[in-house]
Amino acid sequence: MFPLSMLGLLVGALLLYSCKHEIPVPGFDGPIPTETVNCDPQTVYFVQEVLPIIQGSCAISGCHDAASAEDGVILNNYLNIVNTGEVVPRNAGQSELYEVIVENDPDDIMPPPGNTPLTSAQISTIVNWINQGANNNSCVDLGCDTLNVGYASTIAPIMQLRCDGCHGANNPDAGISLTNYAQISDQAINGTLLDAIKDQNGAVAMPYNASPLSDCDIRAIEIWIENGALND
Ligand code: HEC
Repeated sequence: MFPLSMLGLLVGALLLYSCKHEIPVPGFDGPIPTETVNCDPQTVYFVQEVLPIIQGSCAISGCHDAASAEDGVILNNYLNIVNTGEVVPRNAGQSELYEVIVENDPDDIMPPPGNTPLTSAQISTIVNWINQGANNNSCVDLGCDTLNVGYASTIAPIMQLRCDGCHGANNPDAGISLTNYAQISDQAINGTLLDAIKDQNGAVAMPYNASPLSDCDIRAIEIWIENGALND
């Protein structure tokens, strides 16, 4: 018979293990969070690329923030995204998070019709992240380019990625749409845009309830505004 003392030892060892280590996510690479590395253009990074898309388009009020939790799905952080989004590492096709964003049925597609749809680039980012292992990875960009800042090449993509989930064309938050040059330059020139992304002068910090823009993106927007917020 299995001696009781052995069982005690085993349970003790398990408890010790679970206290000393971060709780790993079953099936996922490594503990949480993994270390921050230099950005590799071939790799999709959860913290810099995937989380901002999901925070801007899914983890919003009335949808999948912690308070709303539509259908029990909460997409506010890594653990909740992989668990309630039923992410299967290296297999986007089997992952609920992917299925709903490429769904054909208007009753099931996410974000639901009437909200700003994900772009094909955003969908590819999510697919590639899952297929690369759905890691909780993060990187630092040593190649921050603040020399070649332009509206089309720099500003519009940042707005689309980080702002338009809530400031899209339809029913935008705060009545502020940020989907074209006229709208974005208005907010840039009146000063609110910079105040919001730098969390200064009493503005509400943007992106709302999400990680701030990178220093590099903030600096690029600042330079664009300093240069006259041109449609360049
Ligand atoms: C998750 C949703 C969400 C995202 C993403 C988001 N916003 Fe907002 N935004 C809001 C809400 C909600 C308000 C109104 C906040 C309030 O008045 O309390 C708002 C207000 C603002 C305001 C007015 C702030 C003020 O103090 O008057 C500006 C400017 C703004 N957003 C710009 C941005 C920009 C730029 C981005 C992207 C970098 C962004 N937002 C991303 C939800 C969002």
